[in-house]
Amino acid sequence: MVAHDPGTAGALKMAPSLLSADFGGLAEAVGEVAGVADWLHLDVMDGHFVPNLTIGPPVVRSLRKHSDLYFDCHLMMTDPGDYLEAFAEAGADGCTVHVEVGRTDELLECCRALGLRAGLAANPDTPFEALEPHLHRVDLVLCMTVFPGFGGQSFMEEVVPKVAQMRAALVERGLADRVDLEVDGGIDERTAPAAARAGANVLVAGSAIFGRERPWEATEAIRAAAVRGRASDGPR
Ligand code: DX5
Ligand code: ZN
Repeated sequence: MVAHDPGTAGALKMAPSLLSADFGGLAEAVGEVAGVADWLHLDVMDGHFVPNLTIGPPVVRSLRKHSDLYFDCHLMMTDPGDYLEAFAEAGADGCTVHVEVGRTDELLECCRALGLRAGLAANPDTPFEALEPHLHRVDLVLCMTVFPGFGGQSFMEEVVPKVAQMRAALVERGLADRVDLEVDGGIDERTAPAAARAGANVLVAGSAIFGRERPWEATEAIRAAAVRGRASDGPR
């Protein structure tokens, strides 16, 4: 059983990404968004799947002592299967693996067996069709709106149709109340409406939150922009 409440699947959720926080003060950064965030997004990079290195299970374990938020771990790793157990033991609630690394069903099953919510991510140039066969086995689908590896990149609008196609597929298959649809990369007050209008319900934002003077206000501003996006016309 997942230890921290993920909330209702499909409900709008803000997931601040610590990637743009000061790594010398991560617990303080978590505290800055604790009252407004729904989830905490933790970016794990292995220096192989992406050309950058970040954090691993020891940091997740340390942060767990400072927060009761749902920990949404995004594993940008070539071999996530070697580490899923360590993340589960460290206090992760959900782990998202990339479809590009293969062995997808095995990895999703392993997440489930460890009591983790199972997420599946796709890079901007990976088509909907690569995700589609796995939808009945996931708790979360992540459509990357930048190429993973670094914070502070620009939102790729060309991914929006894939988000809309994914939302339609979830609805069509009766999975909309079981599966969250997340976007990650370049999300801010300006881009959140389009992502939300297309059907994304979990919004990850790093630099637009922790790059700002008051991260809690930035989180709420992005949420308000997304609410406006959901209320406007478009596929949902
Ligand atoms: C990118 C990471 C993102 C990153 C987003 O590889 O997966 O979670 O923190 O950062 P921004 O919001 O700055 O694009
Ligand atoms: Zn991420």
